[in-house]
Amino acid sequence: MNATAVIIIAIGAAVVLGALAFLTLARRTDVRGAGALSAETVKRDTSARRSSEALVDARSGAEVEAAAAAARKPGAGLAPVSSDTGITPWTPPDPEALGVSRRQFFNRATISLMAAGLGTFSAASFVAFLWPTKTGGFGGKVPIGRIDDIRSGIRTGNGFFYAPEARAWVTEYPSDAIPKAEEAYGTSLMPGIEQGFIASYQKCPHLGCRVPQCVSSQWFECGCHGSQYNRVGEKKGGPAPRGMDHFPLEFSAAGEVTVDTGTIVQGVAIGVNTTGQEAEGPHCVGAAEH
Ligand code: FES
Repeated sequence: MNATAVIIIAIGAAVVLGALAFLTLARRTDVRGAGALSAETVKRDTSARRSSEALVDARSGAEVEAAAAAARKPGAGLAPVSSDTGITPWTPPDPEALGVSRRQFFNRATISLMAAGLGTFSAASFVAFLWPTKTGGFGGKVPIGRIDDIRSGIRTGNGFFYAPEARAWVTEYPSDAIPKAEEAYGTSLMPGIEQGFIASYQKCPHLGCRVPQCVSSQWFECGCHGSQYNRVGEKKGGPAPRGMDHFPLEFSAAGEVTVDTGTIVQGVAIGVNTTGQEAEGPHCVGAAEH
């Protein structure tokens, strides 16, 4: 998954969250403020008020008092006092039986969908971060052309072929040195060496300067502090702690060559000299000792 896919997923998540926020706000406009009564409630209140008005006693005060006095006389038919109030004790309702109101349902649905959107976005970002098969740029597998093209590139480059996207130099590895290479180099470099190539990381293992080729000496010579390496990147002089680092090379059945820049193989130790190549001419920089 590349950065474009992550951006598309992020935009999708943002659109979903925006739609949810819009729906939530639209729902709030129906309420018309906290404490507002629904039309059904207002109608019920009005009819109840009319009923109570209809029950207003139309008798005069004297008539009401006379009726009350008659009612107080013994045997006037008052109901005997009873301890039974006729009131049913209140028991709290079962929340499960009550169910979920419409507002609760919308709130819970909104929160759940927002959480799901954020979770999806986080998962996509995490997968994109860990995606192991990055291709096409430095840090992944960089195709650099066909075997024949690289051979001719080394010839026209006077012994050095530079692959800028891989940040690597590709040089020829002599076939008569392969037995020594099998002891000195890791197995990941052997497919390239057996095909006659070795790819060296341009970054100087001393302090990280870009190491240029020196056509006259046929070595690599770092202009920063004077470290020198032979044509296959083995250290020959200067302050560097080891030889130049390398990248594995891969070859397709059709002869396409790929540099695996996601795998940096540390350069060989000082003193390893599998090719025995000495300087073939004047140096480009003087070696310095630290
Ligand atoms: S960075 Fe290359 S010699 Fe110091």
